[in-house]
Amino acid sequence: MKYSKSIKVFHALFAFGITLQLLLSNVMRQPRPGRLRTAFEALAFAVHEYVGLALLVILIVHWLLHLAGHAPEGPAHFFPWFSRERMGRLKVEARELLQMKLAEPEAQDAIAGAIQGLGLAIATLLAVTGSLIFFGMADDGTMSATTRSIRKVHTTLAPMMWGYLGIHIAAALAHVAAGHRSILAIFGLRSN
Ligand code: HEM
Ligand code: HEM
Repeated sequence: MKYSKSIKVFHALFAFGITLQLLLSNVMRQPRPGRLRTAFEALAFAVHEYVGLALLVILIVHWLLHLAGHAPEGPAHFFPWFSRERMGRLKVEARELLQMKLAEPEAQDAIAGAIQGLGLAIATLLAVTGSLIFFGMADDGTMSATTRSIRKVHTTLAPMMWGYLGIHIAAALAHVAAGHRSILAIFGLRSN
């Protein structure tokens, strides 16, 4: 798949940022009235907040790049659910994949696009809900009922992001193992 330089740079930025956020969420500790935190727990939480705000900007710019035509198939590639033709391609691909008989494994990208779209949607919702908590939470961690509900959405989405990351990396490794090196273009290792 041919990606512009900007898409490659932004993919690297959010791939690193989101993986860091997932790892930090296991060691950080949020403030709460009367809660004591170690310096490391507080620092990890502060880094989660500021990397998070940067991710919101990075993801918005990445969406704008797609809308501006920086990817060959446009944003509809990520959301085939609304097009009969794209859903048709997706079903054929799923059938061929289940039989392990993909006709053109390096050209057929309907399933990859649909899954990448879900990943981007989860990441964007995490960035939006995280930023709303950031602005809605007092320094001692006190939150209104609305902010608490937004926090629930944020913490429910995080395991889905882990799930996406696992599937996405496993799919990339499976392609490489099968000799489909064209997917490495996203890292700028090849020019096409
Ligand atoms: C959770 C964070 C990540 C998200 C949301 C994500 C999302 C995406 C998206 C949307 C694309 C299509 C190109 C684009 O529009 O940017 C893509 C392509 C790709 N990503 Fe990720 N990615 C993530 C992390 C990673 C990581 C950590 C790796 C590998 C170590 C990776 C490997 C790849 C590869 C190899 C492609 C090219 C696939 C192709 O050409 O069909 N991604 N990713
Ligand atoms: C994009 C990927 C992100 C992931 C995977 C992620 C993951 C998580 C997880 C798992 C927690 C819950 C930790 C726990 O309860 O033990 C959490 C909490 C939190 N996150 Fe994120 N987050 C992300 C982005 C953001 C962003 C963009 C912000 C905005 C600044 C943010 C701000 C927060 C805040 C303020 C909390 C604490 C809520 C509380 O007090 O309980 N996060 N995050």
